[in-house]
Amino acid sequence: MSEQTSTSNAEAVGKLYDRFAAESRDLWPDEAEVPNFGFGEHLHFGYWEDEDDDAPLGVAALRLTDMVIDRLRVDDTHHVLDVGCGIGGPALRTARRTGARVTGITVSEAQIEQAKAAALSEDLRLDFQLADALRLPFLDASFDAAFALESMMHMPDRRQVLGEIARVLRPGGRLVLTDFFERAPIPEVHRPFVDLLRETSLLTTVPVEDYPQMLRDAGMLFEEIRDISDHTTRNTFIEMSKPWTDWAAGNPDATLELALAAGIPAPGLIDVEELGYLLLAAQRR
Ligand SMILES: C[S@@+](CC[C@H](N)C(=O)[O-])C[C@H]1O[C@@H](n2cnc3c(N)ncnc32)[C@H](O)[C@@H]1O
Repeated sequence: MSEQTSTSNAEAVGKLYDRFAAESRDLWPDEAEVPNFGFGEHLHFGYWEDEDDDAPLGVAALRLTDMVIDRLRVDDTHHVLDVGCGIGGPALRTARRTGARVTGITVSEAQIEQAKAAALSEDLRLDFQLADALRLPFLDASFDAAFALESMMHMPDRRQVLGEIARVLRPGGRLVLTDFFERAPIPEVHRPFVDLLRETSLLTTVPVEDYPQMLRDAGMLFEEIRDISDHTTRNTFIEMSKPWTDWAAGNPDATLELALAAGIPAPGLIDVEELGYLLLAAQRR
């Protein structure tokens, strides 16, 4: 991939998240009421144990963060890289739970500000930097572990990102990530939703079967890959679309495009079960 293409992608994703922060504020002036559709500090899908599990999105999202942290196997002697750190929730949680030093990167300036503000009040070893995962500004073998919690789907070249992560990990260092994938061909009836998601959320997917080889090529030992779609996607879309009805009722100009651009998935997404979600762990050779 050319440097220009990757730079323009990083800029577009950065603007998406900057805009998400701003437009959420415009659409929901009362931030206390619906600050970000219930995600809290953890801007990723939730994990629900079973059909009887009625945890709210924020609780379920925190659960998924903890599943990632558990797989990192780090303690207070380690330095962890958070690739695509959002507003800092998972990095803070990692530092609080393990005592590890954590460096988070994102391409959104607004997120850096929020993450730094959240970290200020804590006596933790946390650092947040504006950086592109396709060109990590770190020395070789400078981290003990890394995670990419729902950020790979924005990356135009996963191979390059995995290569960069492997480069900055020390031998034996672990990588844990979550990602979307198409677990079945998207039928015609769901295509408009997925296409719109791809355009507005800059979603990309690769076949799940590609991951083991991509990791091997990057110099990593592939350890675990789990399809956790049934625990994540449907419930997250249900939770995220709850505000849609109220919002659409109060906005005569409401369109699907506007909703998705503002991070509100229309209820139609709930049935897009072909969009899968995976959890993966690997180790640097
Ligand atoms: C869905 S959010 C997840 C945020 C965070 N991991 C969490 O779970 O709360 C996706 C994140 O990936 C970041 N991201 C996307 N592309 C990136 C890139 N090329 N380099 C660094 N960060 C990137 C975005 O800026 C955003 O912070």
